[in-house]
Formats: sequence, structure tokens, C-alpha cells
Amino acid sequence: MLGVAVTSGNVFSQERSWLPLNKDKVHDPMSPALRLLQQPGEALSKLPADTAGNQVRWVEALESGAIDPRTNVFPETKVNVLDLDNWLNTSGSMPVVKFPHRQHTLWLDCANCHEHLFKSKAGANKLSMLQILNGEQCGVCHGAVSFPLTECSRCHNTTFEEYRREYLRAQEAKK
Ligand code: HEC
Ligand code: HEC
Ligand code: HEC
Repeated sequence: MLGVAVTSGNVFSQERSWLPLNKDKVHDPMSPALRLLQQPGEALSKLPADTAGNQVRWVEALESGAIDPRTNVFPETKVNVLDLDNWLNTSGSMPVVKFPHRQHTLWLDCANCHEHLFKSKAGANKLSMLQILNGEQCGVCHGAVSFPLTECSRCHNTTFEEYRREYLRAQEAKK
């Protein structure tokens, strides 16, 4: 299995490092404006550690208050945080995927996903790992701007037994 067990950063206690701006192949190394910018290492080393992607556990950074980004540019924009989990991949060989709306809508608007990427109806989407790996569906963001697809267990995060128990509890609560 390709799965990587990701526990708290200090268990591995590995040294994190980031390329300086003049070596990141994004910024023009000759630009005199470079020295006005903060180096990634200086900014990111203070945030909760991750072992993948850009080495910051962004959900934890937000929920712990380590960062406090502005939620909207225009005062009239309504911020909508939805506390709803959806279970995907409930009958595969891999563990179930519990998709958390909360951790997404802390960063994103409904319109970033609905309805062009996903229909807002449980079970209405034909998801496939192959398409995800091809940069579609969840892969539009994961592997691009959010944690990479090598972190299998962060999406395949729920055993079938846990899913069954939580699903039955949710059904009970609806009665
Ligand atoms: C960004 C979230 C995400 C990540 C990361 C991810 N998957 Fe998936 N995967 C999914 C979703 C969603 C499905 C559901 C497709 C469906 O409903 O059939 C899926 C389905 C699958 C399936 C087919 C169904 C099954 O269980 O047999 C396999 C195999 C699979 N993933 C393996 C992996 C492996 C291996 C990794 C790590 C290299 C991985 N996935 C990483 C979201 C993810
Ligand atoms: C990152 C992408 C993403 C964002 C952002 C997002 N959703 Fe979803 N939403 C999904 C996925 C994936 C599903 C699961 C669909 C499925 O089961 O096939 C879903 C399902 C739903 C459902 C169906 C729930 C059910 O149990 O039937 C509703 C309603 C919904 N979303 C509303 C919203 C609203 C309102 C917002 C904004 C506050 C939002 N979503 C933001 C991806 C997203
Ligand atoms: C529009 C962009 C977008 C799409 C599409 C998207 N995600 Fe995410 N996802 C994010 C961002 C941003 C975060 C938070 C930053 C991070 O953890 O990298 C996140 C975080 C997560 C988390 C982590 C929650 C935690 O507590 O650490 C899971 C699990 C997850 N996504 C699963 C999925 C699955 C499964 C799909 C497809 C059904 C999906 N995402 C589609 C952007 C997206």
C-alpha cells in the first residue's frame, strides 16, 4: 500500500526546509523587489508541521488560530460554513472517504464545488480515483493547492465499521 501514516509532526521531528524565493522558479531571481518579500521559510516554519505538500498542516493552522485569514474582500459577501460530513467510497477495497464540508467551507465558497464539480446530493456523483489522479473532481485542488494525493489516509480516513456506526447514528438522529 502507498498509504503514509501521518501523525503529529513532532513524532517524526524532521527538519523542514523551503526554497528561498530566488530559487523557487516562480519568482524572477533578478528582480530587485524580491528582498521586500518575506522568505517562505521564515513565514511557514512557525506553522503546524506536515510531512507532505508545502509542509504546513493548513487545517490545523486555521483551527488553532495560528493563522487568521480574511474571509471576504467585500463586506456584502456572505460566509457560509457548513458542518456536514458526506461518506464516499462506502463499498471499495480502500477505507471509506469521509468528506468534511466544515474543513472545506472554512476556506471555500459553495460555488467553488457546486454544481460544476459535484452535485449537492448525496450519492449523485460518479467519483473515481482515476479521474482524481488525473486532476479532476477532488484532484482539481488536492495535489494542486491542497494536500497531495499521496496522502491516501487523509481522504480514506474511516474504516467501514466506523462508517456503519456513524451512518446508523445519523439515520437515528433524523427520525
Ligand atoms: C483527495 C482525496 C483522496 C485521496 C488523497 C486519495 N483518494 Fe482514493 N478515492 C477518493 C474518492 C472520493 C474515491 C471514491 C470513488 C468512488 O466513489 O468510487 C476514491 C476511490 C479509490 C479507489 C477505488 C475504490 C476502492 O476502494 O477500491 C481506490 C483503489 C483508491 N481510491 C486508492 C487510493 C490510494 C492508493 C490513494 C493514495 C495514493 C488514494 N486513493 C488517495 C479520494 C481520495
Ligand atoms: C470542496 C467541495 C465542496 C464545497 C466547497 C461544498 N461542497 Fe457540498 N458536497 C461536496 C461533495 C463532494 C458532496 C457529496 C456528494 C455525493 O455524495 O456524491 C457534497 C454534498 C452536498 C449536499 C448533499 C448532502 C446530502 O447529504 O444529501 C449538500 C446539500 C451540499 N453539499 C451543500 C453545500 C453547501 C450549502 C456548501 C457551501 C456552504 C457546500 N456544499 C460546499 C463538495 C463540496
Ligand atoms: C475546490 C478545492 C477542493 C476540492 C474540489 C476538494 N478539496 Fe479537500 N480540501 C481543500 C482545501 C483548501 C483543504 C484544506 C487545506 C488542506 O488541508 O490542504 C481541504 C482539506 C480536505 C480534507 C482534510 C480535512 C482535515 O481535517 O485535515 C479532506 C479529508 C479532504 N479535503 C477531502 C476531499 C475529498 C474527498 C474531495 C473530493 C470529494 C475534496 N477534498 C475536494 C480543497 C478542496
